[in-house]
Amino acid sequence: MVITRPPMGMNTWNFFGPDISEKLLFELADALVEKGLRDLGYNYLVIDDCWAEFERDENGILVPDKKKFPNGMKVVCDYLHERGLKFGMYSCLGTMTCASYPGSFGHEYIDAKTFAEWGIDFLKYDYCFRSKQANPDDLYRKMSLALKSTGRDILFSACSWGRDNTETWIDTTGANIWRLAGDIKDDWDHIKCQALTYHKYKGVSFMNCFSDLDMLIVGMNGEGYCAIPGAKPTIEEYKTHFGFWSLVGSPLMIGCDIRNIDEASLELLSNKDLIALNQDKAFNRPWLIQCSDEIIDSPEICCYGRILDNGDIAVGFFNFSEKTVYNRYVTFDMLGLNSDLPLEITIKDLFTGENVKFKNEMLNHYCLKPHESAIYRISIKQK
Ligand code: GLA
Repeated sequence: MVITRPPMGMNTWNFFGPDISEKLLFELADALVEKGLRDLGYNYLVIDDCWAEFERDENGILVPDKKKFPNGMKVVCDYLHERGLKFGMYSCLGTMTCASYPGSFGHEYIDAKTFAEWGIDFLKYDYCFRSKQANPDDLYRKMSLALKSTGRDILFSACSWGRDNTETWIDTTGANIWRLAGDIKDDWDHIKCQALTYHKYKGVSFMNCFSDLDMLIVGMNGEGYCAIPGAKPTIEEYKTHFGFWSLVGSPLMIGCDIRNIDEASLELLSNKDLIALNQDKAFNRPWLIQCSDEIIDSPEICCYGRILDNGDIAVGFFNFSEKTVYNRYVTFDMLGLNSDLPLEITIKDLFTGENVKFKNEMLNHYCLKPHESAIYRISIKQK
């Protein structure tokens, strides 16, 4: 399968953990449609660990948990497909999944066949209980080939947390997305940690093998399976989180309980300008802009630019630090806009949707409080 944009959708793990069922999936599917999220592009609904019985059947076939999924998985796939959604399944390259259910090691082809017969469209493939006799890239390649051998288009999502230098071999495996860090939790420190990991990798990502900063925590508001007692990110922190994931082109997989999502979070996840940025078809790698005279850019106070397919430029100022930062600016010259011909330049603030005024040939952001961000889209036309 070839994908040209980072996938969008929802994964059940962050909020529900092991508490998944047919009923829940039906309700989440309905919510994706009713809240308008499917039509914005969030079309994958991915189930995570803990969906299976602990034992395979007598033919070595995985069996869905009989209490959680009394009617099997095909019924769930059908329900989603009838609503224009796609279904994502979960397994692991080890002998067991991370929560100790059966893994696909040694059963790659039979599992791929089973999944394809159910009608799945996506497989998240985890990294726990890996046999040390096998190379990780071989194991990912094996499942990738097994999926292809079914003849069904199945997006293959590798979840090896950046371990064992994933970035040096993952694009040889046929995986379509790859996790570059460990698990996110619903707190600010984890948002920051994932973003700084991206920074460390200098944004390495491949067409058809996009790097994945993990599922979103927007809208969890301190509740659910991956919440941390006492932690509850603010909407500004969620904006920085969603804005960063959008600007760098990470998959956008919602992690909250969308059935009960609060208005501000829904509005943020529905921001069409940020989604367009995330889905930009050129998929150019963002670059780090050195943006003020007096402050040397550090990963904690950073400014990323990205050239978009239509020639616009996205610029994001991010403050991951604990101090307020004043007067961050980028001159047009720094963006390659010093022209001897007059240019018509418009700048849109992607959080407010409004055009901003500029003077002295620069994009200036006066004040960024701790954990805040600002993202702009600059359009340039020759007069
Ligand atoms: C790992 C993955 C998570 C989730 C859990 C399930 O930790 O990184 O995203 O899938 O396993 O057990």
